[in-house]
Amino acid sequence: MRSALPKNLVERIKQRRAKVAVIGLGYVGLPLAVEYAKVGFPVIGIDVAVGRVDALNKGRSYIPDVPAQEVRELVRKGRLRATTKFEALRGVDGMMICVPTPLRKTKDPDISYIVATIESVVKYLHRHQIIVLESTTYPGTTNELVLPMLEASGLKVGKDFFLGFSPERIDPGNKVYTTTTIPKVVSGITPACRQAVALMYGQVIRTIIPVSSTKVAEMVKLLENTFRSVNIGLVNELALMCDPLGVNVWEVIEAAKSKPFGYMAFYPGPGLGGHCIPIDPLYLSWKAKLHGFDPRFIELASQVNAAMPAYVVQRVGEALNKKGKAVNGARILVLGVAYKKNVGDMRESPAIEVIHLLQKKGAGVDYHDPFVPRLKEESVSMRSVPLSAKRLSQADCVVLITDHDDLDYDSVAKSSRLILDTRNAFAKRRIHSGKIVRL
Ligand SMILES: NC(=O)c1ccc[n+]([C@@H]2O[C@H](COP(=O)([O-])OP(=O)(O)OC[C@H]3O[C@@H](n4cnc5c(N)ncnc54)[C@H](O)[C@@H]3O)[C@@H](O)[C@H]2O)c1
Repeated sequence: MRSALPKNLVERIKQRRAKVAVIGLGYVGLPLAVEYAKVGFPVIGIDVAVGRVDALNKGRSYIPDVPAQEVRELVRKGRLRATTKFEALRGVDGMMICVPTPLRKTKDPDISYIVATIESVVKYLHRHQIIVLESTTYPGTTNELVLPMLEASGLKVGKDFFLGFSPERIDPGNKVYTTTTIPKVVSGITPACRQAVALMYGQVIRTIIPVSSTKVAEMVKLLENTFRSVNIGLVNELALMCDPLGVNVWEVIEAAKSKPFGYMAFYPGPGLGGHCIPIDPLYLSWKAKLHGFDPRFIELASQVNAAMPAYVVQRVGEALNKKGKAVNGARILVLGVAYKKNVGDMRESPAIEVIHLLQKKGAGVDYHDPFVPRLKEESVSMRSVPLSAKRLSQADCVVLITDHDDLDYDSVAKSSRLILDTRNAFAKRRIHSGKIVRL
């Protein structure tokens, strides 16, 4: 196919001379910036967080999946640097926007970070620049919100500049699928835009999946995460149901998993966490409601999942009750507070609510998490305590929230008096004991 892109832009990209900017240097942005720098592009990272910018310029990595050694080397070679100043976009050929897209307290999308970024980008927008939004957002953000803001510059999309959306699928902590090996869905406002976006990503990512519009690409990400949220909601409900039925939900799932087609295993747990699954489906339901559509599955899954921390606390109460104890005055040790295993990310972690609810009921709560030395949230502020046989034996109940791999499960089982295991972590390691209660 003949390229509708300016020849010298294509050449600069193919020869890796094109200047690349990554805006928002977090879990998504930093690994991406590093990959472009690794294959030879001069990369500038832009972030409003001075601490992150300083760390990067000193060659330090603050994202566990990004090796410090790589950052150090790239900064030393002058391939990667960071700044808080958007003036750095002058002369940049392609930029990826990876800023946060959280929810407001009302659970509506908070797209203020995207808006603030585009307001800064438009000041330095120039001919033949490629702009890609990666932040997860509702369908329509790129063409309804970002495009008019950029075209207010007087430049025309598809001719003067190229705009697209490409959802990020990174899975922090996953050693098998990483930035370069996860297939990348790409889209553009016009065919030339899509071509430009595909060309940019094709330099660092092995498999590129073009789709027909930015709305489709935005929706792809929301389908993926809504799929997870709904299926986790289903197994959480099944766990709640299996308990009074006297059935081990984990055993049911293991056996169902043996079906080689038409089934995919999801697991119950103490509630959703992380920047994606608890949040993204609500971006979709918000937008659907604006169009008069009532997204019932999404809302129901959200409600079931959001009720899990309270269910964990209920189960702690029931387990203590069987031993003639109350939650009020009990000593509880929470094991693992990060939202998932082997990472230190606390965003939306259900542990926060579990701890908060236990404290409200009068329990004395400590936690241990080697990945989270300090917990400072609106409702909870504490430090991780060291794990010892004495501390385990002193706790009336140990509540396992995050099943980090390097926890010594045998010792925990040996020293504890009562364990509520929300992840089936002990049974998975073939540790069985009357002291262990599953979710
Ligand atoms: N973390 C994940 O696993 C993951 C996976 C897929 C998609 N996403 C999506 O990617 C986006 C980024 O997520 P993340 O986890 O990297 O977030 P993050 O909070 O780790 O990083 C975002 C960075 O953007 C910076 N920032 C905020 N406002 C800015 C501005 N106006 N200009 C420049 N920088 C700004 C912040 O200081 C921060 O360093 C979100 O939309 C998220 O939903 C995240």
